[in-house]
Amino acid sequence: MHREIAKGVYYVGVDDHHTELFEGQWALPFGISYNTYLIVDDKIAVIETVKEAWTDEWLDNIREVVDPAKIDYIILNHMEPDHTGALPHIAKIAKNATIVYTKRASQFQKSFFNVDLPEKIVEDLEELSLGSKTLKFVHAPFLHWPETMMTYLVEDEILFSCDAFGAFGALNGNIFDDEIDMRMVESESKRYVSAIITSYFKFVQRGIQKVKDLGIGIKVIAPSHGPIYRKDPMWIVNKYAEWSSSELDKYCAIIYGTMYGFNHRVAMKLKKTLQERGVKVIIHNVSTSEASRVLTDAVRAGVIVLGTPTYDAYPFPRVWHFVNEIQCKRFSKRPIGLFGTYGWGGGGVKKLHKWLTDMGFEILEPIVRVHGRPTDTEEKALSDLADAIVARLK
Ligand SMILES: Cc1cc2nc3c(=O)[nH]c(=O)nc-3n(C[C@H](O)[C@H](O)[C@H](O)COP(=O)(O)O)c2cc1C
Ligand SMILES: [Fe+2]
Ligand SMILES: [Fe+2]
Repeated sequence: MHREIAKGVYYVGVDDHHTELFEGQWALPFGISYNTYLIVDDKIAVIETVKEAWTDEWLDNIREVVDPAKIDYIILNHMEPDHTGALPHIAKIAKNATIVYTKRASQFQKSFFNVDLPEKIVEDLEELSLGSKTLKFVHAPFLHWPETMMTYLVEDEILFSCDAFGAFGALNGNIFDDEIDMRMVESESKRYVSAIITSYFKFVQRGIQKVKDLGIGIKVIAPSHGPIYRKDPMWIVNKYAEWSSSELDKYCAIIYGTMYGFNHRVAMKLKKTLQERGVKVIIHNVSTSEASRVLTDAVRAGVIVLGTPTYDAYPFPRVWHFVNEIQCKRFSKRPIGLFGTYGWGGGGVKKLHKWLTDMGFEILEPIVRVHGRPTDTEEKALSDLADAIVARLK
C-alpha cells in the first residue's frame, strides 16, 4: 500500500499487528505503524526504514512507486531498530544510495549494523537538494535518543518529525488525521508519549520551541508512528506541549498492589473519601492495569498515592517496579502519599518511604500502615491523609 501526501511525496509505511509489547513493555491493543516516506524528485529519497520483520512488505510498497534500486538517499532520523531494522536489507538493493544522518547516528549505525554504504553526515539546519525539492535537517537530540533529527521538506512544508508527535495504533490504510477517530488518536498518542518519552519531557518542550523559532510553515506533520496531520498539524503539537508541560494536573492517582484484597479495601476507602471531598481520583491495581496506562495516568497527577502489601519484608514487586519507573522516567517532584497493609513485621511501606525520600519526593503525612483490617485509629489516619491530599490539590 502507498498513498500520495503531496506531489511526488508518498507514504510507504507498514502496520504491525503482530508485536504484543512495544519495546518489550508497552501493550499494543491496536497495533502500531512504522511510517516511512518516499520523495521522488530528480533524486529519490526514502525517510526511515521499518522494523526488520516488515522489510518485504515495505519494499513492495516502495516498488508500487519506484524501483528501490534507484533510491539515492536513505534518510535516518533516528537509529532505534523500529526504524532501521530493514537498513541492511535495503542497503543490498539500493546499492548507489547514500545514508543521511547525524554524526551520532553514524556511530550508532556502525555498532548496530555496520552497513557499508557511503554516508553523509548532516549538521543542524543543513539542506540537501533533491532537484526541485529541498530537505532541511533539524537536529532534535533526546527526542528520544541522542542522535535524533527531524527532516523538513521545504517546498511542501512537511515536517517528518520521527518519534515526536507519534502515536500507538496501526493505521489500516487511513493515514490522515481527517480519516481517523481523533478520540482514539488522542488516547493512543498520550499513552505513547507517556510510555516512550516521559524521561525526556524537557527535550520535547525544547524541540517544539526550536521548530517554532525556525519560523517555518508547517502544512503537514508526518511522524514515524500513527497518523499524518494535514487537517490540523498544530493539534498534535499543542497536545504534546500540554502533556510534556511541567505543570501537573489537579487530581490524585492511587496506584496499589494487592494479593488478597486488604490493600484494595484501603484504596477504595481512600478513593471514596477523596471523591466525597471533591477530588478527582484515578485508580490502578498494578496487577491488572497495563503498565503504560498506569504510567499515563500517574505522570501528570498532582498527587500520587502508593499502596502496598508487605511481601517477604519488601514492597509488593509490581509496586516496586512502578517506583522504579518513577525514578527512571524522571517523574517531576510532587507529593506522594503512602499506605500499606502487613501480616507480621511489615516493612514494605518503610522501604518505599526511604526510596522515595532518597529520590527527593515529599511524603505526605500521615503514612497509613494497617495491620490486616484497619482499626478506628487507622481509619482516622486515612481520613487525615485524604485531608492532606485535598490541601495539596487546592
Ligand atoms: C507471599 C506473601 C509474603 C508476605 N510477606 C510478608 C512479610 O514479609 N511481612 C509481613 O508483615 N507480612 C507479609 N505478608 C502478609 C501481607 O503483607 C498481609 O497479609 C497484607 O495485609 C496483604 O495485603 P493484600 O491482601 O492487599 O495483598 C506476606 C503475604 C504473602 C502472601
Ligand atoms: Fe524511538
Ligand atoms: Fe519509533
